[in-house]
Amino acid sequence: MSLRVACGQDAKKISSLRIFMSDLLLPMPRTPMTPDRHREVARDLLAVVLITGLVFILSSAFELRERITELTRPLERYQIDELPLTLGVLALALAWFAWRRWRQATDELALRVEAQQALSQNEARYRTLFMENLAGNALCSRDGTMLLCNPAIARILGLPAPELVTGRNLFDFYADPALADEHRALLRQQGKLDVALLELIAADGAAVKVIARMLVGQESTQGAALQLYVADVSELQLMQRELGDALAENRLLSQKYLLAQEEERRHLARELHDEMGQWLNAIKLDAVSIRKYPTELPREVLDSAQSIIEVSTRVYDVARGLMERLRPVALDELGLADALQHLVAQWRRRNPDVACSLVVDGELSGFGEQTNITVYRVVQECLTNVTRHARASQVRLQIACASDARELSLVVADDGVGIEPSGKKRSGLGLAGLRERVEVLGGRLEVLSPPPHGVEIRVRIPLSDPRS
Ligand SMILES: Nc1ncnc2c1ncn2[C@@H]1O[C@H](COP(=O)(O)OP(=O)(O)OP(=O)(O)O)[C@@H](O)[C@H]1O
Ligand SMILES: [Mg+2]
Repeated sequence: MSLRVACGQDAKKISSLRIFMSDLLLPMPRTPMTPDRHREVARDLLAVVLITGLVFILSSAFELRERITELTRPLERYQIDELPLTLGVLALALAWFAWRRWRQATDELALRVEAQQALSQNEARYRTLFMENLAGNALCSRDGTMLLCNPAIARILGLPAPELVTGRNLFDFYADPALADEHRALLRQQGKLDVALLELIAADGAAVKVIARMLVGQESTQGAALQLYVADVSELQLMQRELGDALAENRLLSQKYLLAQEEERRHLARELHDEMGQWLNAIKLDAVSIRKYPTELPREVLDSAQSIIEVSTRVYDVARGLMERLRPVALDELGLADALQHLVAQWRRRNPDVACSLVVDGELSGFGEQTNITVYRVVQECLTNVTRHARASQVRLQIACASDARELSLVVADDGVGIEPSGKKRSGLGLAGLRERVEVLGGRLEVLSPPPHGVEIRVRIPLSDPRS
């Protein structure tokens, strides 16, 4: 069963280029010892027996041996009379020799038939792979005329059957004829072409996006010089676009959410400061005035007033800490660079055993509000993580942003125990939240933990408006 590829309209023109699967196969030998063969062998054996019998009859009738003996008697000194027996043995030996060769030929034939059958099975398998492949495969002539193709390519090109594809030129389906010329030239030069995205116009006029590989092969297979592999990625492209849109929408939402969160925190910090701070201060002042009361007060009252002063001072400190975490006042008042210095100084005070260095390379000014708060929050969370998880002796903070740079880079590295590479899911939200913040700004956050060198957090944030 050969896979015949019928040609389309221009059958005559391309008939000389048609390829048949059967052409790619070796000729199939006839099966050994068919009934015909058996009859032939029986006939030949009968001929041998008849000839031998005839020779015996003639020899007996004409006393041939006696005559030959009579004739060769003068040559007896040359042992001519021994020839009949020798010739008889030679005949037997030749018969044995022929039988052995026949056996050998039969075995070789059986092997060849076996190999041929395996080849046919393989051919059937490859044909199935070729025909059922979801990607389009085609063999083309050097000028791009498709000679053999599978149904997938017909589907991609909007044709109902592969037979309608053969004879048509691949480059005629290009949406951009200039690109077709370019590809022809490239194939001539380098013999191989991988196209990440190619737009074709199918027979029904639909635009199809494919990835393609073209290989120039040997011209041995009846003019098939070009192999073509294409996969339809139109749907994938569409999905990718939809995914991109969804991602952008998500980013916008996250951005709004983070802005709202920061606004809410700022509001809370202000409330804490203006309301709670004022009231605590008022309580403290009242207690101070009780202690300074001009007339002598009982000892218990003075002690209570003192304890109110201490408690209100402690609560105020806690509230200040809370305010600081909710909204780093220093960021608004001093700017990013000084706010970071302030943050690091506070952290050093709380962690005297860890050496913490902060290197700022460039000017940290002129960024947007969101970039400032993101950088601040990254440093804040990374330092908190070092305190909580790292058991480090050194932390290195490095911020680089040249005046004409298009991005800001930040590295926080410690020499602690590092992050366990175990696959178990972590419940912490700190790093995930940071990543979200950074990605909202179009940046990247990488967490590296090459054992045993602690953790290195690398952040890159693009600056949409590079400062000159
Ligand atoms: N510097 C570090 N050294 C060692 N392990 C770290 C370091 N930073 C983070 N980790 C590990 O990564 C995990 C995730 O950190 P992440 O900040 O996301 O969460 P968390 O700190 O556990 O909780 P939170 O939500 O309060 O931040 C931590 O639980 C810790 O195991
Ligand atoms: Mg954390």
